[in-house]
Amino acid sequence: MKPLLVLGSLNADLYVEIDRLPMPGETLAGSGAAVRPGGKGANQAAAAARLGYPTRFAGHVGSDPFAPALRQALHASGADTALLTTEPGPTGQAFILLQRGGENSIILVGGANHSWPIGVSPEIIEAIRGAGALLLQREIPEAINLEAIRLAAAARVPVVLDAGGAEGPLPPTLLAGITVLSPNETELARLTDLPTATDTEVLIAARHLQAQGVGSVLVKLGARGCLLLQPDGSVLRHGVFAVPVVDTTGAGDCFTGAYTVAMLEAQTPAERLRFACAAAGICVQALGAMPSMPHRQAVVELLATHV
Ligand code: RIB
Repeated sequence: MKPLLVLGSLNADLYVEIDRLPMPGETLAGSGAAVRPGGKGANQAAAAARLGYPTRFAGHVGSDPFAPALRQALHASGADTALLTTEPGPTGQAFILLQRGGENSIILVGGANHSWPIGVSPEIIEAIRGAGALLLQREIPEAINLEAIRLAAAARVPVVLDAGGAEGPLPPTLLAGITVLSPNETELARLTDLPTATDTEVLIAARHLQAQGVGSVLVKLGARGCLLLQPDGSVLRHGVFAVPVVDTTGAGDCFTGAYTVAMLEAQTPAERLRFACAAAGICVQALGAMPSMPHRQAVVELLATHV
């Protein structure tokens, strides 16, 4: 079985829990201050590995005190971290304001995630060529993603791109090499300059991306579930599992990682959506991004209780 290769970011998630967001100039009391492992790339790698799929992670941490614990957390999830290298300077950090009810607001400081002094290394090139799929996000330089997508296309390795992590448009050359593009509704609106408030609007925007060369568009709709626009133009929809929500941080990463695993396992598109929604439904029930990625058994159990 060829491994999944996740190329992306790793962050120290610096949490504080609040009742509401502060107004400009206002000071509020928070609680639950904690440092937890995160970063969209590492979260997605941890999700895939915990679901039992052989997963490799390539990315950068810094040389600060955050780095060893992050490396250890990703390794403990079961992901192969041999391609996780250390760059001098700070590790990526995400400042997470977690509101009661699970909604989050995040400020990112890229740190080592933006430090790619030699670009895509020969070891990573080799790993892309030997991968079952390449899973990317947008918290590392776009030039690295572009290079990785070019290499994957040449080796006929499918590419899944989670659109989270950057605001700018995706270059047409990048779009054309993507097998599955997965934005949330806000990212979809930004990528297309189109409204995404209703299912009809989401579908129009997704079709707009598909017209630019993307294979499938997999839209995460938060509490409204997800929508998959398939290469033949057909559409699948799935709702969320009704669970108590503690923290939505990383739920989208969990969803994308689980969908990619299900794709590699050749589950049907409908099964992939159900599997990914179930995984995300477990993720939101615990604090933290990487720490709340579910093991396969938990997903199987949730699926069994919702026939
Ligand atoms: O998607 C959630 C992740 O976004 C967090 O873990 C944080 O690190 C940011 O990258």
